[in-house]
Amino acid sequence: MTARLKDKVAIVTGGSRGIGEAIARRLARDGARVVVASRKQEALDPVAESIRDAGGECIAVACHTGQEDAIDALVAAAVREFGPVDILVNNAATNPYFGPLMNIEDRAWDKTFEVNVAGYFKMARAVARQLLERGAPGSIINVSSVLGTMAAPMQGAYGMTKAAVISMTRTLALELGGAGIRVNAIAPGLIETRFSQALVGNEEILKTVLDRCAIKRVGQPEDIAGVAAFLASEDAAFMTGEVLTVDGGWTMT
Ligand SMILES: NC(=O)c1ccc[n+]([C@@H]2O[C@H](COP(=O)([O-])OP(=O)(O)OC[C@H]3O[C@@H](n4cnc5c(N)ncnc54)[C@H](OP(=O)(O)O)[C@@H]3O)[C@@H](O)[C@H]2O)c1
Repeated sequence: MTARLKDKVAIVTGGSRGIGEAIARRLARDGARVVVASRKQEALDPVAESIRDAGGECIAVACHTGQEDAIDALVAAAVREFGPVDILVNNAATNPYFGPLMNIEDRAWDKTFEVNVAGYFKMARAVARQLLERGAPGSIINVSSVLGTMAAPMQGAYGMTKAAVISMTRTLALELGGAGIRVNAIAPGLIETRFSQALVGNEEILKTVLDRCAIKRVGQPEDIAGVAAFLASEDAAFMTGEVLTVDGGWTMT
């Protein structure tokens, strides 16, 4: 039996904790050589080390995905260390403002779009360019959110960026499909991470979400990781431009 991502090289942004960490662990378990990236090297190093301890191949590269030179350096480091990149998981996102959309300050708006939209696009473009140059197939997975598919109370700008990610996913899928590069998105519901602490820790919000969920629990990062590994693999060879909702049934009705 061969691991389904054997010899594949993957970059996972936001890989130091939460959903990105779980995806990195899962891709490594499935045989990929994984580069975990986030802003803080000291947060990434223990993740990479523990993946290696578990028998996987992993390196940690600090990268602020809002900065294009850092993105180029990340892709270059991946190629230097592990070889050309086959899989990109765009997962690093930010949500600095919680409140009515009308009251958001320009700085928070700019940061949200810089990381969540421009960062995702520039990462996808950098990886797609080197796939196109070598005529290789690839898989790009964009972590969006159910808040990109409906109104996002108190998280309006964030929701807009997640909607933009879905649009970007479909257009890139259309433009790159002929070259064998698949581009898909995952729209998680409420997943228990540091990012969602303000929501999971708020009884009223939690109840509102769980009342609508068919599966009566908060999601765990591992609930997303298996879906990402599937999209990265040949099992999803005929899927592109899709948005897989993984939300315990929250938004199905
Ligand atoms: N948790 C949920 O309920 C939920 C629901 C729907 C969608 N999502 C999406 O899932 C993804 C992961 O979220 P999470 O809940 O796992 O969040 P998390 O636990 O807070 O992790 C966020 C990760 O992104 C990194 N990061 C943040 N800003 C960055 C930047 N500018 N450049 C590079 N890395 C950066 C963080 O590391 P550093 O601090 O070291 O940079 C960290 O590794 C996000 O796209 C989020 O929108 C989450």
